[in-house]
Amino acid sequence: MTSRNKYKALELESPGVYELEGLEVGVTSNCNYKCDYCCAYNRDDGECIGSTEVIRIIRDLPHLKRVRLSGGEVTLKYKDCLEIVRYCSAHGIDTQLNTNASLLTEERIIALRDAGLSNIHISFNYTDAESYAAYYRVHPRMYERLEQNIRLCTQLGLETVLETLLFEGNQENMQAISDKVYELGVRIHEIQNSIKMPHTDWSQIVSKASLVQSVKALIENKKPDTTLYFTCMDRFADRLNLREQPGVYFSNCVDGTKQLHLHGNGDILICELCHPVVIGNIYKGTSLRDIYKQQPAALTDFLEKRPCPAYDALFM
Ligand SMILES: C[S@@+](CC[C@H](N)C(=O)[O-])C[C@H]1O[C@@H](n2cnc3c(N)ncnc32)[C@H](O)[C@@H]1O
Ligand code: SF4
Ligand code: SF4
Repeated sequence: MTSRNKYKALELESPGVYELEGLEVGVTSNCNYKCDYCCAYNRDDGECIGSTEVIRIIRDLPHLKRVRLSGGEVTLKYKDCLEIVRYCSAHGIDTQLNTNASLLTEERIIALRDAGLSNIHISFNYTDAESYAAYYRVHPRMYERLEQNIRLCTQLGLETVLETLLFEGNQENMQAISDKVYELGVRIHEIQNSIKMPHTDWSQIVSKASLVQSVKALIENKKPDTTLYFTCMDRFADRLNLREQPGVYFSNCVDGTKQLHLHGNGDILICELCHPVVIGNIYKGTSLRDIYKQQPAALTDFLEKRPCPAYDALFM
């Protein structure tokens, strides 16, 4: 596969040499939501990393192509996010900001757009205020704010991606979610396969049959001007007879091979979502720049075995 557009450009390249091309930065691991499925590493531990420090670190990474801001809810540190985006944009590095959108405002969206944010990635799992409020244990007004902020993002010209977690809680509603994504003006929809969370015992992942059914239905009903990205399915898409076609991608996983996660305390993780193993700490002698050359033992082990919990959950 070759890169077709900026979003997921790293994931659409053919896997090659191991090189740090993507860095996910947990600007803060704190969050104003408490989702049951949450994969954030040490959520709410108070660890943050400011923009000056992040810029100092990424300035030293010669192969870096993308910075993804994600932790907890990084917009709690909105000004740091803005500074990082501004720096990256000025230096040819793509940026993605992952958010629940609850703390966005028109002013913030405009500022992020003007700073050069490549895309904003918003979690979107429910289509009405009642279900949203019940699942997330928040006031129904938060759903209205979510919709409003999504519309603002698209209207203000920020490339917007809505991400839906495919899990037991919403598998019945995937088509309605897809229709709503379209109605909100968004043309890029990412469907993230859900991953079990050993640290909280959360395991509402969907069965193989249900996954196939949902994915096939979404592809069949895809509108021509939309793009669908299915994530954490690349290891087994072929085996389940799920095929790419124009506007439909089973993006290659880059976690651990081209992308690492940096936590606020300097810990470097292989992957926050599925393999939160600490392979070093930038304040304790680990060089992010040379990490694939020096290869801490845990990284070598990962690269040799390439474990994938999404695959294991369905096939082991
Ligand atoms: C940890 S959140 C951080 C950004 C922001 N707070 C949010 O929720 O969108 C980043 C992404 O991880 C995804 N995620 C969280 N828990 C997951 C799980 N158990 N399996 C798969 N994806 C998960 C969410 O859907 C979200 O899009
Ligand atoms: S909003 Fe994101 S970081 Fe916060 S609890 Fe939910 S998944 Fe975790
Ligand atoms: S290794 Fe992890 S991030 Fe990559 S596809 Fe598997 S579950 Fe997803």
